Parts: sequence; C-alpha cells; structure tokens
Amino acid sequence: MCGIVGYFGQKDPKEVIVGGLKRLEYRGYDSAGVAILDGPMGQQHIKVVRAQGKLAELSKKLEHEKFTGRLGIGHTRWATHGVPSERNAHPHTVEGVSLVHNGIIENYQDIKRTLAASGATFTSDTDSELVAHLLSRKVKETGDLLKAVDGILPLLRGAYAIVAMWEKQPDVLVAFKNGPPLVIGLGEKEVIVASDVQAIISHTNKVVYIDDHEIAFVKGADLKVFTAGGNSIKKEIQTITWSADQVEKAGFKHFMHKEIHEQPRAVANACAPHIDLAAKVVRLHDVGLTDAQFKKIERIFIIACGTSYYAGVAGKYVIEKIAQVPVETDIASEFRYRSPVIPPNTLVVTISQSGETADTLAALRLAKKMGALTLSICNVRASSIDREADGRIYMNSGPEIGVASTKAFVSTLAVLNLFSVYLGSVRGQLAKNEETNIVENMLALPAQMEAVLSYDKFFGEAAMKLKDYRGVLFMGRGVSYPIALEGALKLKELAYMHAEGYAAGEMKHGPLALIDDRMLILMVCPSDEHYEKSLSNLEEARARGGKIMSIGTGDDAALKAVSDDYLSLPVANWMVNPILAALPVQLLAYHVADAMGNDVDQPRNLAKSVTVE
Ligand code: AGP
Repeated sequence: MCGIVGYFGQKDPKEVIVGGLKRLEYRGYDSAGVAILDGPMGQQHIKVVRAQGKLAELSKKLEHEKFTGRLGIGHTRWATHGVPSERNAHPHTVEGVSLVHNGIIENYQDIKRTLAASGATFTSDTDSELVAHLLSRKVKETGDLLKAVDGILPLLRGAYAIVAMWEKQPDVLVAFKNGPPLVIGLGEKEVIVASDVQAIISHTNKVVYIDDHEIAFVKGADLKVFTAGGNSIKKEIQTITWSADQVEKAGFKHFMHKEIHEQPRAVANACAPHIDLAAKVVRLHDVGLTDAQFKKIERIFIIACGTSYYAGVAGKYVIEKIAQVPVETDIASEFRYRSPVIPPNTLVVTISQSGETADTLAALRLAKKMGALTLSICNVRASSIDREADGRIYMNSGPEIGVASTKAFVSTLAVLNLFSVYLGSVRGQLAKNEETNIVENMLALPAQMEAVLSYDKFFGEAAMKLKDYRGVLFMGRGVSYPIALEGALKLKELAYMHAEGYAAGEMKHGPLALIDDRMLILMVCPSDEHYEKSLSNLEEARARGGKIMSIGTGDDAALKAVSDDYLSLPVANWMVNPILAALPVQLLAYHVADAMGNDVDQPRNLAKSVTVE
C-alpha cells in the first residue's frame, strides 16, 4: 500500500521521482521521501529528504534542493510498522545503502534482535530500515549491490517490493519483490522502476513486469533480470495502452468524480470485447478457459474484498439465475483461512481492480493448490492476480485513481452479466432470444447511465442536508441487496458516516429499531420481482417516522408516496438495474464527503490497493 519509484537517466531525478510519487499518492499518503545521489562526480553520496504528511510537504522541502546525480529512489507511505513521521518515512539509509519498501517483513523482530545483538542501532521503528542494515553489511562483503541483495533474500519473510541503491555504484538500482507489484519502464537512455505503470506512463509505454523472487538489475539504462541464485532470465517487454492524459482529472474536482462520470464508457469498454454485435450474442473466446471447461463446472466460488466482493455477491444472483450453477461468495480474508471445501469441477472466480490485493491473491493461490480452475476479473493487466489465474476477463475500465472504487465496480457487474450469459448459453440454460434480449439491454446501458448521472445536481444540492443524518440504512432485495452493501461502504469510506447495508427482508429482525427521524433509509427498489415486498418494508419504516430516499423505476407513484426523495431509474432488465442503481449511491457518498470537506480521492486511513494482510 505504499508507492515506490526508482530512476536512472538523463532527466533530473528529483522531477521524475516526485512526479511519479504524485501519480502513486493514492497508494499511501502519510509521509514521503527521496534519496538521490549528490556531490562531485566520483565522490558522490546519497542525499535524503523526507517529510511527514502528504507529498506536498515533501515538495516544499525539495523546492530549492539540487542534486548532481542521475540516480535516485522515492517513496510515499501508508504506515504499517511505525507511526507516520519523518523518522519512519522512506527511503531508509544505512552507511551508503538506501532503499524504499512496500509491504511487510514478517520476521522483522528476529532480524532486529540479530542486528541489535551485533551492535546495530536504529533510527526508525520500521521493518524496512532493517533490510537496509542487512544490505549495508552484506555489500561490505560482496562489494556489489546485486550480490548483496541475492545474499540477504533468504533472510526475508513476508511481502515486499524493494528498490535499493548504493552510493559506490552511482548507476545501479536493484529491485526485488515477493507479493506487492513492481514494474520497470524502459525509456530513451533511462529506466524507471515503480509500483504501478501510472508513475511510468508519461516517460515510456514500454514496460517489464517483475515476478516474485526475481531480481531486476538496472545498470545505466540497461536492465537485466535474475532469479534468486543468479540465473539470468529473459522477460517480455510489454506496451501499455493507457495514455498519460487518461490519468489526469479532465476538469473534475476529484478523480472519483471524473471516474463516476466515466462509467458509461467503462461499461461499454467492458462489454465491447465480448459482444458479437451482428449476432447479438456473448463471446468469451480469449479468456484462457475453453467451452469444455465451462461445461464441466459444477460449482463456482466468487472470492474478493470490499467493493469487489459486493460485485461478486451481485454476480451470485445473476449466475445462479441465468446459468443455473450454484455459486458461493466469500470474503478473501475469510476464505483463505477457513479450510474451504473445494469439490472437483469447481471454478474459483477472483475479483480485484488492482490485481494485487494480498488476501485475494492468497485465496487464488489456495484455490489453485486445491485443484480448482481459476478465473480472474481484474482491471490491471499483468498484475499478480491477472498473471496467476488460469483465465482472465478484464474490467477494461481504465486507470482508477480514486481510492473509493466506482467504475471498476460497475464494469465488474457488466462482466459478470456477460459471463453468466455465456455460461448459460454454452450449458444450454439460456435460449437464443433470451440472450439477445440481455445483450440488447447491455448495449443500451451506457446511454441509460448517462441519464442517471444527471442526479449529480440533485446530490450536489441535497448533500448539505444529507450529511447531518446520524446514519444511513441502505436496503435492497435480491440483486439490489449488494448495491445496498456497496452504498453503505461508499458512505463509510468517503464521508466517515455510520452506514449499514441490509437485506430489506431482515429489517424486522432488528434494524427496524434503528429508525427515527435522524436515520435516513435508502431503499433500492426497482420494478422487479421483489418490488412489492420492498415497498411494504418502506411503508413499515415510514410508519415509524423514518426519513426515506428510494430508488425506483420510471415514474413510480406508490414509491413517491412513501418517500421524502425519490430517484427514478430507466426501465431496464433486472440484471441491468444494479448497475444503474450503483450510480446514485456513489453520487450520494461523493457529494456528502465533498460537502464535509473530506479528501475524497484519498480518504483517511485507506489505500487503493491493500497489498498486505
Ligand atoms: C473500494 O471502494 C475500497 N477502496 C476497497 O474496498 C476495495 O474494493 C478493496 O480493497 C478491494 O480492492 P481490489 O478490487 O483492488 O482487490
């Protein structure tokens, strides 16, 4: 959950590194720092500048700093060991060796005890500094940073992506990982190492992804990759298709607001590779799984975290109804430790925007070890989860910078709809005319989403009132229930307000006691098979003085009659309603958080990709 950057080249390392950290700040923003070579050629030393707080604090300290060297590293932190402070900020430097680290060294206490016993003294409370100590000692033996890294790797346990430099090798960077991501950009006489392509894309679109237990050796503008133990390996150079300006805000106040409005295009991009427009059918041909494999599936597990998990809960309703395959959903951090029973002919589907979420990656690895076929739904090509799954379907929603996930969520819902249709079709559970009807609904969806996004204005005006409720109870039935869960999460993570997502049928089993005029009830109540029951739930809540906001279909007089605010969705297929209903609950959370003056793109305590447990 931290952002790391390393650079060697002809440009000013300070500019490249700080610019890259800005693109990675969504990964963690409680402190930051750089270490760049400085001093006369041949006698250069490492100069470190660090600051607590957001990157802007570091930029202020760097404003008048000049560096003569062409090599440097930088880091923006999400604290795991040691409170956010300048002393705990990276890079950590010990006797001329400096490094930045994303992850957790799980055996750090043992390492610290051993180092302390041999006289080491520490300047921080971090696990990362210990690796700098190990490296600085080893490099005195080897006289070479690459050999030193190879020598200490067996001592490390846990998750790490590390970039290291040594002032006696002024054109060398060594990067190595186990878990968190590392990608290397190959530019014109320059190399950039980073946690994510977004720090690289404005310099080059040629990248190499490093796998676990591999070591990247940058010497000058040359890259070599080795396995632990020193065998040189050849890595494929990939071309990134994202343009730099996709990562900018395009005039919106926040990345999240921009990404909410990008959702119609995101859903269209998610669907485009898998819809045969002429035949109006779904095609899943290049996903790495065969029709024979799809036909053999007897059970599906959908495993994910957070918003991605809620998309998976929606997927359960759709897959079971359309493809008649039993689906179990689970939170990755529970699945990986509960000794799950995975029968033969099981497909495990992981959902992850980043493709790096530690719990989801661990769940994938457990599923594979237990013999399951695996399918990844992911937004980042060549991410760890994307690479390790047997098959893959991309969200195709483009870079999602806001920590709170929006377009990846609706793209996932669209992908799950298409997956269900394809599965139902190849297994003979879905008639051609039904498939055509669903495909036509999916093709109409982006335009309908544009219409629903016009509620942006309503929520912008209502936010000042909405922020004063003591909490919000989101409810829904059937495939609207996971939208209630997601709406509650959005409000929690953005407005820091108490919110709960509940199956509406559960209201009488407790939550009804919550209802008074300070608690807002938000019911997702489209005209589907659950409509009547949801409406009567609302009448019960109304009778107890609840303040009601409802999301329904078309001009629904009965819903309006029991609601203080009624939001209308276009008439659509039941599988499409959740995607449409996701938009108002996102807009609610966004505008309330903005009205509160919260940092919408970087909510407190959170990180975009939780790459440690
Ligand atoms: C979403 O708004 C949250 N930031 C979080 O719950 C996120 O969905 C979760 O951490 C999973 O991330 P992933 O999709 O990258 O695996």
